[in-house]
Amino acid sequence: MKKIFVLGASALQVPAIKNAKEKGLYVYALDYDPEAVGIAYADEFLCISTIDKEAVLEAAKKYEPDYIMTSTSDMPVRCAAWVNEQLGKKADIAYEDAICATDKVHMRRRMKEKNVPVPEFHVVDSFEDFKEAASLIGTRFVSKPADNAASRGVVLVDLSSKQEVLEGIGADFSDNMSDEAFYKAIYEYSKGYSRGGEVLVEEFMEGPEVSVESITVEGESHIITITDKMVTEVPFFVETGHTEPSRLPLDVQEDIRNVALKAIAALGVKNGPTHTEIKVTKSGAKLVEIAARLGGDFITSRLVPLSTGVDMIDCQLSSTLGETVNWQSTKSCGSAIRFIFADDKEDTKEQVIKSIDGIEEAKKMPGVAEVVMTKKAGDLAGNLTNSGDRYGHVIATGKDAEEAARNAEAAVKKIVIVKTDK
Ligand SMILES: Nc1ncnc2c1ncn2[C@@H]1O[C@H](COP(=O)(O)OP(=O)(O)O)[C@@H](O)[C@H]1O
Ligand SMILES: [Mg+2]
Repeated sequence: MKKIFVLGASALQVPAIKNAKEKGLYVYALDYDPEAVGIAYADEFLCISTIDKEAVLEAAKKYEPDYIMTSTSDMPVRCAAWVNEQLGKKADIAYEDAICATDKVHMRRRMKEKNVPVPEFHVVDSFEDFKEAASLIGTRFVSKPADNAASRGVVLVDLSSKQEVLEGIGADFSDNMSDEAFYKAIYEYSKGYSRGGEVLVEEFMEGPEVSVESITVEGESHIITITDKMVTEVPFFVETGHTEPSRLPLDVQEDIRNVALKAIAALGVKNGPTHTEIKVTKSGAKLVEIAARLGGDFITSRLVPLSTGVDMIDCQLSSTLGETVNWQSTKSCGSAIRFIFADDKEDTKEQVIKSIDGIEEAKKMPGVAEVVMTKKAGDLAGNLTNSGDRYGHVIATGKDAEEAARNAEAAVKKIVIVKTDK
């Protein structure tokens, strides 16, 4: 029986662990968290951090897995690449390239070098440099840590809405606050999420955002679909919904494809999935970021199979195993997810959820594929500052993207959440 190391056992990794089992593999799930949900689906659990590459290498020498992979998590991509390289195994992405896929500073530099359209950016590691970069870039820009994910530490800085921005990040605001004090709070916030200490100051790319799911087979990349993304703005960018296929004009989609393919090539991915985030600006499509893994947020696990028939998790495993990769679409319809979250017009930070009703009704609405609540009565209501603050989601299908979006939104309206003071 062939053996596989799956790096990461969080909920995001469960589909890959299950798929590896279905393919008849003996699965070791690795995670630093002994409570990780994926452990239950694996044959064996190894309590090892998936960013500790030396420890994973040691374990690989002991247990001798035939394959080492990760599925939808960011940081283990580096570790899998390094351990595969050390052991002389087939590597879908080189370690050096995996660094570019997981560190936004390395990524921006690589992409610029390879002429992939990116926003103007400055890398800083002190407050003096941050101020200097801000003065070069203007009064509206993005500040983000070099090496985090899930929008942690990412802020849209806007000098004309200091109060909103600072309240959003939980920092103090005062009426006569100087620009310097304002910038200091932002810098400290982004830096707080940066493992290596670097912060990126970037031009704010105005325009619609999409993600591009792709599978590369022996150096040839196949775009599976383009997904329209809905995010909150000022000051955070939390994803509130996804709809596919994209409803943007075809020429814009062509531009998006070209930028995605250029970014995948610039990264040097040889095999496996990529998830590329792109903003469509007045001067064309530009790269937000690219990851050498499957897209999260239910895009590859639920939306892509519903709208295209492609099982990207199976594609990824087949690629790892050197089997035929079935990336071709077998259908063409629409799918959409809408997240349920706290209304940003009310301050519910200190409130709790009193009741959640209408779930069964929502499930019976046309096109609804699933309704999942991640919060329950008694939980803190909170405000929407990152994806963990969302209350749940509805996934729906339709004959096209527009109908799928309508179906998902109609179902969300059936769910009634009452909040109360603690
Ligand atoms: N330079 C930028 N211009 C406009 N929006 C941006 C920019 N950088 C990030 N964003 C927004 O913030 C979100 C999160 O930033 P991203 O760089 O993708 O970090 P993360 O790793 O946290 O996903 C993006 O999906 C996008 O909506
Ligand atoms: Mg991102």
